[in-house]
Amino acid sequence: MNWKPALAVVAMVISLPLLAQNDDNIFAQYRAMFGDDNPAELVEMQGEELWKTARGPRHVALTACDLGLGAGVVAGAYARLPRYFQDADRVQDLEARLAYCMVKLQGFKPEEAVAKPYSEQGQPATDMEALAAWIAGQSRGVPVAVPQTHPKEKAAFELGRQLFNYRAGPYDFSCATCHSQSDRRIRLQALPNLTAAKGARSAFATWPGYRISQGAVRTMQWRVGDCVRQQRFPQLVFTSDAAIALITYMGVLAAGEPMAAPGLKR
Ligand code: HEC
Repeated sequence: MNWKPALAVVAMVISLPLLAQNDDNIFAQYRAMFGDDNPAELVEMQGEELWKTARGPRHVALTACDLGLGAGVVAGAYARLPRYFQDADRVQDLEARLAYCMVKLQGFKPEEAVAKPYSEQGQPATDMEALAAWIAGQSRGVPVAVPQTHPKEKAAFELGRQLFNYRAGPYDFSCATCHSQSDRRIRLQALPNLTAAKGARSAFATWPGYRISQGAVRTMQWRVGDCVRQQRFPQLVFTSDAAIALITYMGVLAAGEPMAAPGLKR
């Protein structure tokens, strides 16, 4: 209960010296210290509250939002996203779907719903981060099963595969440049091989994650956007088709992995 805020503070205070050593082993030890506790739990509680609170110009809660398993069904929904939604006629990941529900149900303007997806350093979690943390947490242990039935779901996978391998920019990098070999490292950080089932599975199943180095919950859209930045590509537009396609691609490769998000990340 009230030891949890304390835990979050401890996490922030001890993370710096640990990070300086920049060693995966240290992170493994760090995770072990937390056991089943993750500072993201605080943000999850905030997300649950937000989901149930009447908000927006129409003053309604998100509890009527259909995340793919029926209106208001949250348990297991994240493990089956991104997916095609008939009402939107589009493949949506969780964040795109939440933005859609904020507009259609709560009456927010489309630009308001996507205005500030990520918190700044030291700021509280944004609505998107809190909702994503809680909703992903409601899929813990559920095997990843991103659907590939609708033609648009198949098209999203194919686009994601192409984007993942598309080399461009000042360094002629693709995602695959950094993420298609096993046991590679960059600046001492392990680079997961996201084209092999093992890497894709653990990556997909552990986002959203609590980023120890930033003291914040980060979402899958953030993760992919930050890698696009590392790739020196133009900024990835939040909830764009490109972002959703990349997430679909990784999700399909991660099939069967039990969800373990929010994870605990560097
Ligand atoms: C310049 C190298 C580089 C490129 C290019 C790159 N990444 Fe990454 N990626 C990284 C590094 C380094 C990490 C680990 C970051 C960390 O621990 O903070 C990472 C982590 C990730 C993770 C999280 C893995 C996990 O297990 O938590 C995902 C998902 C990811 N990248 C996706 C992508 C996608 C999609 C692209 C292409 C749009 C991409 N990356 C391009 C370097 C790169």
